Amino acid sequence: MIEVCNAGKTYRQGTREVRALRNVSLDIGRGEFLSIMGPSGSGKSTLLNLIGGLDQPTTGEIFIDGRPLHGIPDDELTLIRRRSIGFVFQFFNLLPILTAVENVSLPLLLEGIPLAKIRPQAFQLLERVGLGERAGHRPEQLSGGEMQRVAIARALINDPAVLLADEPTGNLDSHTSEEIFTLLASLNEKGQTIVMVTHDRRAAAYGTRIVTLKDGALSEDISLGVDAT
Ligand SMILES: Nc1ncnc2c1ncn2[C@@H]1O[C@H](COP(=O)(O)OP(=O)(O)O)[C@@H](O)[C@H]1O
Ligand SMILES: [Mg+2]
Repeated sequence: MIEVCNAGKTYRQGTREVRALRNVSLDIGRGEFLSIMGPSGSGKSTLLNLIGGLDQPTTGEIFIDGRPLHGIPDDELTLIRRRSIGFVFQFFNLLPILTAVENVSLPLLLEGIPLAKIRPQAFQLLERVGLGERAGHRPEQLSGGEMQRVAIARALINDPAVLLADEPTGNLDSHTSEEIFTLLASLNEKGQTIVMVTHDRRAAAYGTRIVTLKDGALSEDISLGVDAT
Protein backbone atom coordinates (compact mmCIF):
# COMPACT_ATOMS: atom_id res chain seq x y z
CA MET A 1 0.00 0.00 0.00
CA ILE A 2 2.92 2.33 0.76
CA GLU A 3 6.02 1.94 -1.36
CA VAL A 4 9.23 3.71 -0.46
CA CYS A 5 11.68 3.28 -3.34
CA ASN A 6 15.34 4.15 -2.81
CA ALA A 7 14.42 7.21 -0.79
CA GLY A 8 17.24 9.50 0.28
CA LYS A 9 17.11 12.79 2.10
CA THR A 10 19.92 15.27 2.46
CA TYR A 11 19.44 18.42 4.51
CA ARG A 12 21.61 21.39 3.70
CA GLN A 13 22.52 23.87 6.43
CA GLY A 14 24.72 26.49 4.86
CA THR A 15 27.73 24.60 3.59
CA ARG A 16 27.07 21.57 5.79
CA GLU A 17 25.15 18.57 4.47
CA VAL A 18 23.34 16.04 6.63
CA ARG A 19 22.41 12.77 4.98
CA ALA A 20 19.38 11.93 7.07
CA LEU A 21 18.23 9.00 4.89
CA ARG A 22 20.20 6.79 2.53
CA ASN A 23 18.60 4.59 -0.09
CA VAL A 24 15.68 3.35 1.97
CA SER A 25 13.32 0.93 0.24
CA LEU A 26 10.31 -0.34 2.12
CA ASP A 27 6.93 -1.84 1.21
CA ILE A 28 4.21 -1.41 3.83
CA GLY A 29 1.12 -3.55 3.37
CA ARG A 30 -2.47 -2.77 4.25
CA GLY A 31 -3.24 -3.84 7.80
CA GLU A 32 0.33 -3.72 9.03
CA PHE A 33 1.38 -2.07 12.28
CA LEU A 34 4.94 -1.11 11.48
CA SER A 35 7.29 0.20 14.14
CA ILE A 36 10.26 2.23 12.98
CA MET A 37 13.05 1.99 15.56
CA GLY A 38 16.49 3.46 15.82
CA PRO A 39 18.54 5.82 17.97
CA SER A 40 17.96 9.55 18.04
CA GLY A 41 19.10 11.15 14.80
CA SER A 42 18.88 7.93 12.75
CA GLY A 43 16.29 9.37 10.37
CA LYS A 44 13.02 8.00 11.80
CA SER A 45 11.07 11.26 11.72
CA THR A 46 12.49 12.08 8.30
CA LEU A 47 11.22 8.77 6.93
CA LEU A 48 7.79 9.20 8.53
CA ASN A 49 7.47 12.74 7.17
CA LEU A 50 8.32 11.52 3.67
CA ILE A 51 5.68 8.79 3.91
CA GLY A 52 3.16 11.38 5.06
CA GLY A 53 4.00 13.81 2.28
CA LEU A 54 5.08 16.46 4.79
CA ASP A 55 8.48 16.57 3.12
CA GLN A 56 9.96 15.46 -0.21
CA PRO A 57 12.85 13.03 -0.65
CA THR A 58 16.05 14.32 -2.26
CA THR A 59 16.28 11.09 -4.24
CA GLY A 60 13.90 8.21 -4.80
CA GLU A 61 10.12 8.00 -4.77
CA ILE A 62 7.16 7.32 -2.49
CA PHE A 63 3.84 5.87 -3.62
CA ILE A 64 0.60 5.53 -1.68
CA ASP A 65 -1.88 3.11 -3.23
CA GLY A 66 0.14 3.34 -6.42
CA ARG A 67 -0.11 7.13 -6.54
CA PRO A 68 3.17 9.05 -6.45
CA LEU A 69 3.72 11.71 -3.79
CA HIS A 70 6.15 13.50 -6.10
CA GLY A 71 5.72 15.57 -9.20
CA ILE A 72 2.16 16.53 -8.29
CA PRO A 73 0.84 20.00 -7.56
CA ASP A 74 0.91 21.15 -3.93
CA ASP A 75 -2.87 21.33 -3.63
CA GLU A 76 -3.18 17.74 -4.83
CA LEU A 77 -0.59 16.63 -2.27
CA THR A 78 -2.51 18.50 0.42
CA LEU A 79 -5.65 16.63 -0.58
CA ILE A 80 -3.90 13.24 -0.43
CA ARG A 81 -2.54 14.17 2.99
CA ARG A 82 -5.95 15.22 4.27
CA ARG A 83 -7.82 12.26 2.82
CA SER A 84 -5.37 9.37 3.20
CA ILE A 85 -3.13 10.13 6.14
CA GLY A 86 -3.66 10.69 9.84
CA PHE A 87 -0.86 12.16 11.94
CA VAL A 88 -0.16 11.81 15.66
CA PHE A 89 2.79 13.63 17.22
CA GLN A 90 4.62 13.60 20.53
CA PHE A 91 3.10 16.93 21.52
CA PHE A 92 -0.58 16.53 21.05
CA ASN A 93 -1.13 19.83 19.21
CA LEU A 94 -4.70 20.23 20.40
CA LEU A 95 -6.30 23.67 20.25
CA PRO A 96 -6.77 24.80 23.87
CA ILE A 97 -9.97 26.74 23.25
CA LEU A 98 -11.77 23.82 21.62
CA THR A 99 -13.48 20.93 23.40
CA ALA A 100 -12.39 17.35 22.74
CA VAL A 101 -15.19 16.74 20.25
CA GLU A 102 -14.40 20.02 18.45
CA ASN A 103 -10.69 19.15 18.29
CA VAL A 104 -11.54 15.77 16.79
CA SER A 105 -13.83 17.48 14.26
CA LEU A 106 -11.27 20.11 13.27
CA PRO A 107 -9.80 18.46 10.15
CA LEU A 108 -13.26 18.19 8.60
CA LEU A 109 -14.31 21.65 9.84
CA LEU A 110 -11.31 23.01 7.93
CA GLU A 111 -12.71 21.34 4.82
CA GLY A 112 -15.88 23.36 5.26
CA ILE A 113 -18.10 20.58 6.59
CA PRO A 114 -20.50 21.88 9.25
CA LEU A 115 -19.92 20.76 12.86
CA ALA A 116 -23.45 19.40 13.18
CA LYS A 117 -22.67 16.93 10.42
CA ILE A 118 -19.32 15.85 11.88
CA ARG A 119 -20.31 15.66 15.56
CA PRO A 120 -21.84 12.14 15.59
CA GLN A 121 -18.76 10.66 13.94
CA ALA A 122 -16.45 12.61 16.26
CA PHE A 123 -18.37 11.34 19.30
CA GLN A 124 -18.12 7.80 18.00
CA LEU A 125 -14.34 8.12 17.63
CA LEU A 126 -14.03 9.54 21.14
CA GLU A 127 -15.93 6.49 22.38
CA ARG A 128 -13.60 4.25 20.43
CA VAL A 129 -10.59 5.74 22.21
CA GLY A 130 -12.38 5.48 25.57
CA LEU A 131 -13.27 9.14 26.00
CA GLY A 132 -17.01 9.21 25.36
CA GLU A 133 -17.50 10.93 28.73
CA ARG A 134 -14.93 13.64 28.03
CA ALA A 135 -16.30 15.01 24.77
CA GLY A 136 -17.09 18.43 26.24
CA HIS A 137 -13.77 18.88 28.05
CA ARG A 138 -11.06 21.23 26.90
CA PRO A 139 -7.43 20.00 26.74
CA GLU A 140 -6.49 21.68 30.07
CA GLN A 141 -9.16 19.52 31.73
CA LEU A 142 -7.61 16.31 30.36
CA SER A 143 -4.57 14.25 31.37
CA GLY A 144 -1.66 13.76 28.96
CA GLY A 145 -2.86 10.29 28.01
CA GLU A 146 -6.37 11.59 27.41
CA MET A 147 -5.04 14.41 25.23
CA GLN A 148 -3.14 11.90 23.12
CA ARG A 149 -6.33 9.83 22.78
CA VAL A 150 -8.12 12.92 21.50
CA ALA A 151 -5.27 13.48 19.05
CA ILE A 152 -5.57 9.87 17.87
CA ALA A 153 -9.33 10.28 17.38
CA ARG A 154 -8.67 13.49 15.44
CA ALA A 155 -6.19 11.65 13.21
CA LEU A 156 -8.88 9.05 12.44
CA ILE A 157 -11.69 11.48 11.55
CA ASN A 158 -10.91 11.32 7.82
CA ASP A 159 -10.76 7.51 7.91
CA PRO A 160 -7.13 7.57 6.78
CA ALA A 161 -5.54 4.75 4.79
CA VAL A 162 -2.64 4.98 7.21
CA LEU A 163 -2.14 6.40 10.70
CA LEU A 164 1.35 7.82 11.22
CA ALA A 165 2.59 8.32 14.78
CA ASP A 166 5.92 9.93 15.67
CA GLU A 167 6.98 9.02 19.23
CA PRO A 168 3.33 9.25 20.33
CA THR A 169 4.20 8.56 23.95
CA GLY A 170 7.42 10.58 24.12
CA ASN A 171 5.70 12.93 26.53
CA LEU A 172 3.87 10.36 28.67
CA ASP A 173 4.74 8.17 31.67
CA SER A 174 5.28 4.46 31.10
CA HIS A 175 1.88 3.30 32.36
CA THR A 176 0.01 5.81 30.20
CA SER A 177 2.29 4.92 27.29
CA GLU A 178 1.26 1.29 27.53
CA GLU A 179 -2.39 2.31 27.38
CA ILE A 180 -1.72 4.27 24.20
CA PHE A 181 0.16 1.35 22.61
CA THR A 182 -2.67 -1.00 23.57
CA LEU A 183 -5.15 1.38 21.96
CA LEU A 184 -3.08 1.55 18.76
CA ALA A 185 -2.79 -2.25 18.69
CA SER A 186 -6.57 -2.59 19.08
CA LEU A 187 -7.16 -0.12 16.23
CA ASN A 188 -4.76 -2.18 14.13
CA GLU A 189 -6.65 -5.37 14.98
CA LYS A 190 -9.73 -3.72 13.53
CA GLY A 191 -7.82 -3.14 10.30
CA GLN A 192 -6.16 0.25 10.71
CA THR A 193 -2.76 0.41 9.02
CA ILE A 194 -0.29 2.11 11.37
CA VAL A 195 3.30 3.29 11.06
CA MET A 196 4.80 4.32 14.40
CA VAL A 197 8.19 5.79 15.20
CA THR A 198 9.63 4.87 18.58
CA HIS A 199 13.03 4.40 20.16
CA ASP A 200 11.64 1.97 22.71
CA ARG A 201 11.95 -1.72 21.81
CA ARG A 202 9.14 -2.68 24.19
CA ALA A 203 6.84 -0.23 22.43
CA ALA A 204 7.88 -1.49 19.02
CA ALA A 205 6.78 -4.99 20.02
CA TYR A 206 3.13 -3.88 19.94
CA GLY A 207 3.48 -3.77 16.15
CA THR A 208 3.34 -6.57 13.59
CA ARG A 209 6.69 -5.64 12.10
CA ILE A 210 9.77 -3.73 13.23
CA VAL A 211 12.26 -2.01 10.96
CA THR A 212 15.38 -0.43 12.38
CA LEU A 213 17.24 2.56 11.01
CA LYS A 214 20.93 3.14 11.57
CA ASP A 215 22.57 6.33 10.32
CA GLY A 216 19.73 6.82 7.86
CA ALA A 217 19.85 3.34 6.36
CA LEU A 218 17.60 0.33 6.98
CA SER A 219 19.49 -2.17 9.09
CA GLU A 220 16.85 -4.65 10.22
CA ASP A 221 13.38 -5.74 9.16
CA ILE A 222 11.64 -8.18 11.48
CA SER A 223 8.13 -9.51 10.98
CA LEU A 224 6.41 -10.41 14.23
CA GLY A 225 4.40 -13.07 12.47
CA VAL A 226 0.93 -11.52 12.43
CA ASP A 227 -0.87 -11.59 9.07
CA ALA A 228 1.09 -8.80 7.42
CA THR A 229 0.45 -8.68 3.70
N1 LIG B 1 15.11 20.27 8.97
C1 LIG B 1 16.33 19.77 9.15
N2 LIG B 1 17.43 20.47 8.78
C2 LIG B 1 18.68 19.96 8.96
N3 LIG B 1 18.92 18.75 9.50
C3 LIG B 1 17.88 18.02 9.88
C4 LIG B 1 16.53 18.48 9.73
N4 LIG B 1 15.68 17.52 10.21
C5 LIG B 1 16.47 16.52 10.64
N5 LIG B 1 17.78 16.81 10.44
C6 LIG B 1 18.93 15.92 10.75
O1 LIG B 1 18.71 14.69 10.10
C7 LIG B 1 19.07 13.59 10.92
C8 LIG B 1 17.88 12.68 11.15
O2 LIG B 1 16.90 13.39 11.91
P1 LIG B 1 15.50 12.74 12.33
O3 LIG B 1 14.86 12.14 11.14
O4 LIG B 1 14.75 13.80 13.04
O5 LIG B 1 15.98 11.59 13.32
P2 LIG B 1 15.16 10.80 14.44
O6 LIG B 1 13.70 11.07 14.27
O7 LIG B 1 15.52 9.36 14.23
O8 LIG B 1 15.70 11.28 15.75
C9 LIG B 1 19.63 14.20 12.19
O9 LIG B 1 21.03 14.29 12.06
C10 LIG B 1 19.01 15.58 12.22
O10 LIG B 1 19.82 16.48 12.92
MG1 LIG C 1 12.33 11.97 15.53
